[in-house]
Amino acid sequence: MSDLLDAVRSGASGAELLDCELPTRFRAAHTLKNEVGIFEGQTDKDVRRSIHVGEVDMPELAPDECLVAVMSAAINFNTVWSAIFEPIPTFAFLERFGRQGWNGARHDLPYHILGSDGSGVVVRTGSAVRKWKAGDKVVISPAYLDSEDHDSYEDGVQAESLKAWGFETNFGSLGEYCVVRASQLMNKPAHLSWEESASNTLCAATAYRMLVGKNGARMKQGDVVLVWGATGGLGSYAVQMVKNGGGIPVAVVSSEEKAELVRAQGVEHVINRSDLELGDQGMSHPKAGRMLGEEIRRLAGEDPQIVFEYLGRETFGASVYVAKTGGKIVTCGSSTGYQHSYDNRFLWMRVKSIVGSHGFNYREAVETNRLISRGMLQPTLSRVFTLDDAGEATRAVQTNQHIGKVAVLCGAQREHEGIDDPAFREKIGEARITLYRR
Ligand SMILES: NC(=O)c1ccc[n+]([C@@H]2O[C@H](COP(=O)([O-])OP(=O)(O)OC[C@H]3O[C@@H](n4cnc5c(N)ncnc54)[C@H](OP(=O)(O)O)[C@@H]3O)[C@@H](O)[C@H]2O)c1
Repeated sequence: MSDLLDAVRSGASGAELLDCELPTRFRAAHTLKNEVGIFEGQTDKDVRRSIHVGEVDMPELAPDECLVAVMSAAINFNTVWSAIFEPIPTFAFLERFGRQGWNGARHDLPYHILGSDGSGVVVRTGSAVRKWKAGDKVVISPAYLDSEDHDSYEDGVQAESLKAWGFETNFGSLGEYCVVRASQLMNKPAHLSWEESASNTLCAATAYRMLVGKNGARMKQGDVVLVWGATGGLGSYAVQMVKNGGGIPVAVVSSEEKAELVRAQGVEHVINRSDLELGDQGMSHPKAGRMLGEEIRRLAGEDPQIVFEYLGRETFGASVYVAKTGGKIVTCGSSTGYQHSYDNRFLWMRVKSIVGSHGFNYREAVETNRLISRGMLQPTLSRVFTLDDAGEATRAVQTNQHIGKVAVLCGAQREHEGIDDPAFREKIGEARITLYRR
């Protein structure tokens, strides 16, 4: 009987994979419950201290779940949150989940396997799984929904049962194997490598909901859209979606190198925030809104109908200020701090609105994957690490040393594997697909 992971790597058929013995242990990047609190009082909460790579037990599958041999995973900002145990340690989510019977109790362990994005091959299916089978090549949506929760039918994001897989659940993607609900799986884009396809879903689908889907800011043709951190995880997809939808992106970045990269994506209006001379206060400087607004008007000729926000405390005041009268500030996060203050006069007197957005529902994930599979949305993968270096990979994101997305090879041994449709890849163009690698 051959090794299951080797069989996956060699492209074995579904039947051959089912013939391989399931390992009882596998390697994964994880945090430890007994280390919650190690960063107390420290200013630099270096995630390399809290992320460990080692063997964990193979979990039992529920009837509606699949076991996926992960070829590649990606780092998201939620991996950073989990690894610094903030704002709430993931173990608190796992304990709560653990009180929900056998299904949840499996997740409440002294370790947490990280990772909310991944690509790989289905190797086992639970008895109730109908759509997927061993051998299927998949990408994973981190929207973890309970089909028995009626509130999840219209818009899963509004369901109490919604969880971010790999962040609020265990058995995430940063390991040789992961456990997913069958409803999380989508077909892997055939023209992309394992690492390219692993890195998109969470950020791209979040940006899709914020800008394109019916639940966010609902961008229309000709809208000027201010995109903070335009070469970051969310921003790098947001600028593509604004352009695809006939909008006018105004990209904010922090260096000339990043400015060049967004220009290479076809974005005409780029603001290097370090040129605004705001000193140590950065975008929280009292004059930041006015200076930024003047720059946006100079470049785009008008104020933005939409501001794409996720930075929170440092930028939110400026975001509310610069939005056009009647415009929308759509927000899905607060990287620089959860408590925001802004001058409310600019909101109510100019009839602007703030739109909260969180993750995405199944439909939004599937629509996003369709755009990627049709070559209408390009990956923004910039760096690839090995599983042993998952801590380093997360550190790069924590310290804003990265651009676009950072991937980790889990089962895949080399980059550039897993491309099943080279002809379509050639048609889209290697240069567009790998722009962020260069
Ligand atoms: N609710 C959800 O569903 C959801 C989903 C995805 C992400 N999020 C949240 O969204 C945030 C961003 O995620 P991400 O993956 O895009 O992160 P990321 O890849 O680290 O990108 C963040 C970008 O923010 C910019 N930035 C950093 N500090 C800044 C500052 N002080 N002022 C202005 N810009 C700054 C950086 O660009 P420059 O330095 O070039 O300006 C960077 O590229 C995180 O807080 C994450 O938790 C939420």
